[in-house]
Amino acid sequence: MRRMLFAAACLGAAAGLASCGAAERTAKGADAGAGPRVTAAGDVEAGRYLVRIGGCNDCHTPRYAMTNGAEPPESEWLKGSNEPHTGPWGVSYGKNLRLTTRRLTEDEWVRLMDEGTGLPPMPWPSVRAMSEADRRAIYRYIRQLPGDPEQQSPEPRPAGGPPPAAG
Ligand code: HEC
Repeated sequence: MRRMLFAAACLGAAAGLASCGAAERTAKGADAGAGPRVTAAGDVEAGRYLVRIGGCNDCHTPRYAMTNGAEPPESEWLKGSNEPHTGPWGVSYGKNLRLTTRRLTEDEWVRLMDEGTGLPPMPWPSVRAMSEADRRAIYRYIRQLPGDPEQQSPEPRPAGGPPPAAG
C-alpha cells in the first residue's frame, strides 16, 4: 500500500501536480555535482530549509537572532544587516543576499562559495563544504523571495578605525 502511494505521488509530479523529491530535482538539473544534498518538495523548499538551519538569517537579517527567529517576517529575510561584526579583520556586515543573487548568475554563486575570500564571521568553511546541489537550492530560494531588495548593508571597514555606530 505504501509503495502504491509513493508511485502515485511520483505520477502526480510528472503531471505537474505534485513534487517527487529527488526525481524532480534531477529533471531540473539541480543535482549537478557529487555529494550529499537535502531532499525536499523542490529546490526552493530545499533552499528555504538550508537557509533556516544554516543560520544565514542570523547575520544577514536584522533582529532575527535576537528575537529568536520571531522577527522579521520571511518577506524581510536576507536583505542585509547594519549590525556590525568587529574583530581583528575590522568591521564587517552581513550583506544583502537578494542583491547578491541579482548580481551573480547561479554558476557564479556556486563559485563564490568555493573562493570564499570575504571577511569573517561569514562561515566560509561551512558553505565551501556544502554540495553544489545545496548551493544551487539556496540561490534559487533567495532569488525568488518577494519584495524589493532595498539597500545594501554598510561597507566593511579595516581594523584600527573608529568604533562602529550601534546597529
Ligand atoms: C556569523 C555571521 C554570518 C552567517 C551565519 C552567515 N553569513 Fe554570509 N556573510 C557574513 C558577513 C559579515 C559577510 C560580508 C563579508 C565581507 O564583507 O567580506 C557575508 C557575506 C556573504 C556572501 C557574499 C555576498 C556578496 O555579495 O559578496 C554570501 C554569498 C553569503 N554571505 C552567504 C551566506 C549564506 C548562504 C549563509 C548561510 C548558510 C550565510 N552567509 C551565513 C556573515 C554571515
